Amino acid sequence: MEIVARGAEAVLKKDELDGETVLIKERIKKGYRIEQLDKQLRMERTVHESKLLGEARRAGVDTPKLLAIDEKGCKITMEWIEGQRLKEMLNSETNNEKIGNIAELVGNSVGRLHAAGITHGDLTTSNMIISNGKIYFIDFGLGFFSSKAEDHGTDLAVFKEAVKATHFKHLNLVWDRFIKGYKQTNAQADAVLKALADIEKRGRYITRVD
Ligand SMILES: Nc1ncnc2c1ncn2[C@@H]1O[C@H](COP(=O)(O)OP(=O)(O)OP(=O)(O)O)[C@@H](O)[C@H]1O
Ligand SMILES: [Mg+2]
Repeated sequence: MEIVARGAEAVLKKDELDGETVLIKERIKKGYRIEQLDKQLRMERTVHESKLLGEARRAGVDTPKLLAIDEKGCKITMEWIEGQRLKEMLNSETNNEKIGNIAELVGNSVGRLHAAGITHGDLTTSNMIISNGKIYFIDFGLGFFSSKAEDHGTDLAVFKEAVKATHFKHLNLVWDRFIKGYKQTNAQADAVLKALADIEKRGRYITRVD
């Protein structure tokens, strides 16, 4: 067993299960929260994340297969995705054609999520893994069901902000191709882009609550 990441609220381990490599995501105690409330919150988010992983997959978006869920232990076991996160890809890739093609695929998938009424809630380049030419979406812990243009616009604002902050030199290329892809799979794209423009005008949109 090997720790692969310590996120804001979870420890992620790589392990073997029945001869397969798996990823175990365990939400850990947060000392600053009241204990019972903390446990409740971690259990809810565990169940919630596993549901959204399945829903996203049904919407035609690649996500790791869910293998087991331990509600009391706040643990999800899922398929291990061998690949590179979009973050590392954008940091190392110099071929603009490749970057553009990947950005368009990301846009296709986010459009599918939104068309299915799913808001991801944390669309950063650390939450997408590229494997065999597919983009796997992970980390649905802050996701929720909504078909509101405003919520989908917030997803886009978070993604744009993440690209701007970490991959500024690719911002225009990534954003243009992302939007091109998004429009191909989400018929409501125009309304969402309008909501995004309003959000950007207000300049405040991050509503991550812990
Ligand atoms: N199924 C998977 N296969 C391979 N690697 C994974 C998988 N799931 C997660 N990871 C790795 O673990 C990291 C953290 O996962 P995840 O984003 O789900 O956790 P988190 O605690 O919510 O993190 P953060 O708070 O940093 O967003 C990912 O960026 C990725 O590198
Ligand atoms: Mg994450």
